Amino acid sequence: MSGSAPIVGVFDSGVGGLSVWRALREALPHAHLSYLADNAWAPYGERPAEALRERLGALVRGWRDREPLNLLVLACNTATAVGIDALRAEHPDLPIVGIEPALRPALAATRSGRVGVLATRATLGSARYQALRAACLANAADGAAVHERAADGLADAIERGDEAAAEALCRSHLRALLDGAPGIDTLVLGCTHYPLVLGSWRAACEGHPLTLIDPAEAVARRALSLLAGAAAAVGAASRGDPAWRCTGGPEALTRATRQWLGLSSAEVFALQS
Ligand code: DGL
Repeated sequence: MSGSAPIVGVFDSGVGGLSVWRALREALPHAHLSYLADNAWAPYGERPAEALRERLGALVRGWRDREPLNLLVLACNTATAVGIDALRAEHPDLPIVGIEPALRPALAATRSGRVGVLATRATLGSARYQALRAACLANAADGAAVHERAADGLADAIERGDEAAAEALCRSHLRALLDGAPGIDTLVLGCTHYPLVLGSWRAACEGHPLTLIDPAEAVARRALSLLAGAAAAVGAASRGDPAWRCTGGPEALTRATRQWLGLSSAEVFALQS
């Protein structure tokens, strides 16, 4: 890694990982960020876990053949939930940072003791999420409760850049969650697509003040601590432009880098499959 910037792979099923990319760009000014969106397969959230695990295995193998990654950030709750253990077992030499619904900070922040979680169906149904939930509740105050809802369709609407559909889905999913558990005062956005439409969440929350929790900055801090040695060894000037790749058409990611990151000239390359 001497003489050049460390390469940090940032992965999501689609554009959702941009909400983590923003935090990584701040936290890792010395790193070269290389983004991969598996948009040919998005949305991940309603696909079977085993198929996703195999897909992730093949993608990361191909990625490492093309690029000498120093760190991989799974900027996707669903990929983390179903695939991080298998990826770590296959790549013991590659530090891998995942993202998962931020239950611990939410349970620390809630005053009512009721936390809501919106995430994909695959994340909520995973053994990893269930174990996290049990561990967090075991350490939480007596009577604390976590209420989940699978926000079907929302990641897909955000992926398509359909802001009106996304806002309608934020409203309907939030309404359904609050109808089932009216005391919720803290809401975990457990899919990286969801913080991209923060304005829609704020509009949907109107009249019901909620603390919104997004773990992107915690993920970036973890990435920084793993890269600290490498980043200190290189100069900021050597990191180069970020790279953007996708497995499907480049339009969605091109539009999203403009819409959510304000980048006017990101060049997105479609991988040949
Ligand atoms: N952004 C992803 C997540 O954090 C996946 C959304 C999807 O593809 O369904 O879960």
